[in-house]
Amino acid sequence: MREDFRVCSRVCRFALPVMRRSRRAAVRVENTLAKGKLLMLLMWTENLSVGVKTFDDDHKRLIRMINELHGAIEDVDAQGKIGEEEIEIALHRLENYFTTHCLREEETMAKTGYPGLVEHKQEHQMFFATVTEMAQHFRGSRDPKHASEIMQFMYDWLTDHIFVIDRKYTMHMKAKGIT
Ligand SMILES: [Fe+2]
Ligand SMILES: [Fe+2]
Repeated sequence: MREDFRVCSRVCRFALPVMRRSRRAAVRVENTLAKGKLLMLLMWTENLSVGVKTFDDDHKRLIRMINELHGAIEDVDAQGKIGEEEIEIALHRLENYFTTHCLREEETMAKTGYPGLVEHKQEHQMFFATVTEMAQHFRGSRDPKHASEIMQFMYDWLTDHIFVIDRKYTMHMKAKGIT
């Protein structure tokens, strides 16, 4: 893995921070060759399961979509403007799906009387406030560096949030028959 990482970090500009943080979160990382570039991608593992299939599926999809944003950022040098459009599309999809997922969690928590709903909602709101601000920077500058910062923030936030905050509802949902 160490050797792969060295090879990848020469090819893929954003590999180093992704690798460091994903290790902390115990998320599996895979190397993938996409459009002639070696990309380091995060993969969902059972370590990330919250015990509710719908939410696990959402988390898997979000991780896939963050990887797609990563791919779009890596493309930008080769494709110039087209690459920028690719980033915008991937970013927009992510913003939408994060909204869908967080609302889905909040609705289920409200419906089942989850006692940690208010705090959980605040965590989601803080995430959206940060992403909105970061996205404004990117959309103002069109600089892929800012898109890369968003991608990194989303990776970090999502994996930490699942481990520390989402997994708190696992027992509650199980007790309510939601699996
Ligand atoms: Fe959540
Ligand atoms: Fe979640």
